[in-house]
Amino acid sequence: MIDDIRRIAADASDRIAAAATLDELGGLDRELLGKTSELSGFKRRMGELDHEGKREVGSALNAAQESLRFAVASRRDQLAAVARREQAEAERLDLTEVRAGRDAGHLHLVTQAIEELEDVFVGLGFTVAEGPEVEDDWHNFTALNFGQYHPARDMQDTFFVGLGGPREVVMRTHTSPVQIRVMESQKPPIYSVMPGRVYRNEATDATHLAVFHQLECLVVDRGITFGHLAGTIDMFTKAYFGPGWTSRLRPSYFPFTEPSAEFDLQRPDGSWLELGGCGMVHPNVLANCGIDPEEFSGFAFGFGLDRLAATKHGVTDLRELASTDVRFLEQF
Ligand code: DAH
Repeated sequence: MIDDIRRIAADASDRIAAAATLDELGGLDRELLGKTSELSGFKRRMGELDHEGKREVGSALNAAQESLRFAVASRRDQLAAVARREQAEAERLDLTEVRAGRDAGHLHLVTQAIEELEDVFVGLGFTVAEGPEVEDDWHNFTALNFGQYHPARDMQDTFFVGLGGPREVVMRTHTSPVQIRVMESQKPPIYSVMPGRVYRNEATDATHLAVFHQLECLVVDRGITFGHLAGTIDMFTKAYFGPGWTSRLRPSYFPFTEPSAEFDLQRPDGSWLELGGCGMVHPNVLANCGIDPEEFSGFAFGFGLDRLAATKHGVTDLRELASTDVRFLEQF
């Protein structure tokens, strides 16, 4: 009897290991271990045996059933893991999927503009710097020579952040605070461009966005003149738009430059695009950053990247730049 039990158990164990699905395994479990199984039949026949025989057969039967229950449980774990893996694979979403005949996607046209301009300036030996979008009053205004009650603070409609004291923390209204951060952290000579996102509390229309992008340029060195400023603006204009474009400066006012100017770009057809502000870095600004204005001079300019990119690509409504419509985005 004991030999029979061992043989049956060995066969059963092979069949369990070979079960290919959870359903098949469930069937085997009932067939091999249930009340009507071959092994259970031995229990009924044990009545015929003497005391010693009952003990030996009983223990062989228990051992066989125990090892088969264990074999069923471990095969069930294996098959469940396979089933889970197959389900995960079947439900997998390929987020990098490429639609037939199309590119997988590309950079936004404002990002493209930033990268093209960075290439132009890096080619001239400039570095690229970045600063935080949430700024303190010192970097966004005070260090840039905006007096505490200076009306120029109102030129820029500011989003204030509810941190610190009243009006102490702002969403930066321009990239000029990055000039301050660069001058605070490194000594001249400084040749740096600073692209980034800026915020203004104003109504959005075709030519104004409340969240937009600027590129700031700062040069501080010995003997820097207004000529270097005008030449640099004209150079990047031609590099970005092409040789048919030129630029001009018009007198203006900014607290952080003296003298100050606004600059416009002239299209090949003779029409003008008002782009940004510029000037010679104000001596107070250099001094605020620990740079001796007697020894060093500098120029700076800043302009809207969204307007620049929109002009290049013939986009007439700046609000389109915030669009998520792929029919718009795919064009660039
Ligand atoms: N930050 C100014 C603005 O957003 C633009 C500007 C003017 C930047 C003069 C400059 C500058 O660097 O020198 O209106």
